[in-house]
Amino acid sequence: MKSGYLRYINFSYKPTKDDLICVFKFKPGKGVSKKEAAGAIASESSTGTWTKLTTITEKRQTKIGAKVFEIKGNYVKIAYPSILFEPGNMPQILSSIAGNVFGMKEIETLRLVDVKWPEKIKNSFKGPQFGVNGVRKLLRVKKRPLCGTIVKPKLGLTSKQHARVAYESWVGGLDIVKDDENLTSQSFNKFKKRAEETIKMKWKAEKETGEKKVYMCNVTAETKEMLKRARFLKELGNEYAMVDILTVGFSGLQTLRDEMDDLKLVLHGHRAMHAALTRNKEHGISMLVLAEIARLIGVDQLHIGTAVGKMHGSKREIISIVEDIENKFVTKKGHRLSEDWGKIKPVFAVCSGGLYPGTVPALVKMFGKDIIIQAGGGVHGHPLGTRAGAKAMRQAIEATMNNISLNDYAKTHKELNIAIKKWGVVHV
Ligand code: 3PG
Ligand code: 3PG
Ligand code: MG
Repeated sequence: MKSGYLRYINFSYKPTKDDLICVFKFKPGKGVSKKEAAGAIASESSTGTWTKLTTITEKRQTKIGAKVFEIKGNYVKIAYPSILFEPGNMPQILSSIAGNVFGMKEIETLRLVDVKWPEKIKNSFKGPQFGVNGVRKLLRVKKRPLCGTIVKPKLGLTSKQHARVAYESWVGGLDIVKDDENLTSQSFNKFKKRAEETIKMKWKAEKETGEKKVYMCNVTAETKEMLKRARFLKELGNEYAMVDILTVGFSGLQTLRDEMDDLKLVLHGHRAMHAALTRNKEHGISMLVLAEIARLIGVDQLHIGTAVGKMHGSKREIISIVEDIENKFVTKKGHRLSEDWGKIKPVFAVCSGGLYPGTVPALVKMFGKDIIIQAGGGVHGHPLGTRAGAKAMRQAIEATMNNISLNDYAKTHKELNIAIKKWGVVHV
């Protein structure tokens, strides 16, 4: 059956700067040629369908349609005229390049590996309000990585107990305390009460330490409710809001980001659920693409993995993501396309998940100093308790920033010494 997919193949096409470009890794379906499969991806994600149409001339359909301009091995590059996309509308863009194509029979597996965003699309999004420099300025921390914790257990504490754990974390030396990704407003720990109690403790810790402290309170909820919670945090004088960027959806995230223009809260993005899309290297959407979407919409901080912690994600992949969200100019590297982020500010890379003091030197060695290191179990699982766990994290950062090995620093820092005895030191 002539589907017309091959009309979307054009190896002589030279993408223009106005085109949006996608790199897909793909495997054709049974009995389907690579060209037919590549054409099917381009067709279904732009102007085509499974059969010839009577409603549009083939000339027009392919003129404004996507063009397959390169197939190399299992990778295909497709250029999309930017008129196919509604500026500022991330759901529509993804309904095109990351919609039906994943379910087509012509395709066995498909993974959206990277996207190059044309100016018109890039400039239609707000990007981060604060970015790395804005966060560093707020926290008054110029060089070293920021350090934080997640109150653990992720669920189960009352609001008062939550606030107490947060206080111990801040006075132990951490800059940041965050809610866990699935803590919102459960019966045992209501949002408003938690916010009030914890922010009170934040001020107490700031007074006692003379350091700026921040609380990333999780506003994840239905969109209108999220806005109410973010406004409540502002009324309490908080400087941050945390959101699970995938489970709230990109429409919700865009609405929340818009509200930040008024509320001026730093937006912390957790990526819970990402692994449903990113983990399978043959099918889904790469974390690189999700990170670019988060930067365009405009979170100030984003979880990107750790390479040494509990979550999946290789060192090479995470370095590529850190470069992509923190640099202005991104060079082509492997299947990563080059990018000029223009006026879109950088996003602070957050490493979190299975971390502890002994992982700090490795994280800084792999990803540099412009990272936020968060440890939950690695602080609240310290044998001497939360405050000691926090101290040990801060000591590990001090040692790393002064190029002193953790084992040497531990000789004169008890809390770090105990943390190393319990969890060891990671070398990369
Ligand atoms: C997070 O949300 O960042 C994680 O829950 C980290 O928890 P862990 O440090 O105990 O893995
Ligand atoms: C967690 O919440 O379990 C960890 O922070 C994992 O988050 P990640 O998506 O950054 O790995
Ligand atoms: Mg978590």
